[in-house]
Amino acid sequence: MIFVTGGGGYIGSVVVRLLVENDYEVIVYDNLSRGHLSAIDKRAIFIKGDLADKDLLLEVFKTYPIEAVLHFASYIEVGESVKYPTIFFDNNVKNCINLLNSMCENGCYKIIFSSSAAVYGEPLSLPIRENHPLLPINPYGETKRLIEELLFSYEKYCGLKFISLRYFNVAGAYDNLGEDHRPETHLIPLIVKAALGKERIFKIYGDDYPTKDGTCIRDYIHVYDLAIAHILALKKLLKEEKSEVYNLGSEKGYSVKEVFETACEVIGKKIPYEIVERRPGDVPILIASSEKIKKELGWKRERGDLKIIIKDTFEWQKNFPFGYPD
Ligand SMILES: NC(=O)c1ccc[n+]([C@@H]2O[C@H](COP(=O)([O-])OP(=O)(O)OC[C@H]3O[C@@H](n4cnc5c(N)ncnc54)[C@H](O)[C@@H]3O)[C@@H](O)[C@H]2O)c1
Repeated sequence: MIFVTGGGGYIGSVVVRLLVENDYEVIVYDNLSRGHLSAIDKRAIFIKGDLADKDLLLEVFKTYPIEAVLHFASYIEVGESVKYPTIFFDNNVKNCINLLNSMCENGCYKIIFSSSAAVYGEPLSLPIRENHPLLPINPYGETKRLIEELLFSYEKYCGLKFISLRYFNVAGAYDNLGEDHRPETHLIPLIVKAALGKERIFKIYGDDYPTKDGTCIRDYIHVYDLAIAHILALKKLLKEEKSEVYNLGSEKGYSVKEVFETACEVIGKKIPYEIVERRPGDVPILIASSEKIKKELGWKRERGDLKIIIKDTFEWQKNFPFGYPD
């Protein structure tokens, strides 16, 4: 059985759907603090639980024959992490230790971890490869870096094997599963919200960066392609006793203005926007190299086209104008 923490969240719910469709038996563990009950595939076993609850975690690992863990549960918003760093260290790092201990104390030694481009901080070279130094510039990225360090320590002392997937910007929707963060801070869903009148206006944070049009450049990955990468990583982890770290991005950077203009074209509407002050902590350019996962796991992007990513986000928001009902 595969144990998925945070399976009620945006990315976890899509991965759970694909796991079930690929005949894996899945247990979802989520406290629903930021996730949605109706996003969880009904074919998975759902346990409403908190990673802070060590007793419940131990009981679950004793009860079920869990072969591997996919660990999505985390707080994810960079701005919130700057404001409340301690709750990020508590939820992301301390609770991850609870999970790793429950696993190792019950003979489960395989985990796939949702890491982030935030571990790199300001890039020293582009595109960013996995061996780029880890120099996070905010508490969120710091928690991801610390967890990666913990994974190496658990490998050394407890025999754990892990695959850490460092995602860049994830967007899009799959089936009836989409992005419903409250509040939303990610670029593509925010543009779509402004297009649908759910946000008054779309804000571009700074147009004076050293880039071709002055706005920040990022790369975007479709949530479906990201989910497929998890299935490939899981197969590898179940077969081989080897830990790995992989980037997951599109290798192609788009400026905020380019994303915005593409969205206007895809949605067929002039979306209201304004230029506002830069946000602290935004670096001008972040582009991943995903060569390693392509070469080693045969991963490829099927829905990588920016227009598809935007269209899928738009369709999902149109179908779920108020987000998930629960
Ligand atoms: N969304 C992105 O663009 C992105 C980019 C890079 C990395 N990531 C990472 O991917 C993972 C998933 O991101 P997401 O966008 O799906 O986030 P999300 O907030 O939609 O999902 C996180 C889930 O974890 C659950 N959770 C949080 N704390 C918990 C706890 N203590 N116990 C049990 N459940 C708990 C929440 O209820 C939620 O369902 C996170 O680890 C995030 O850091 C996301």
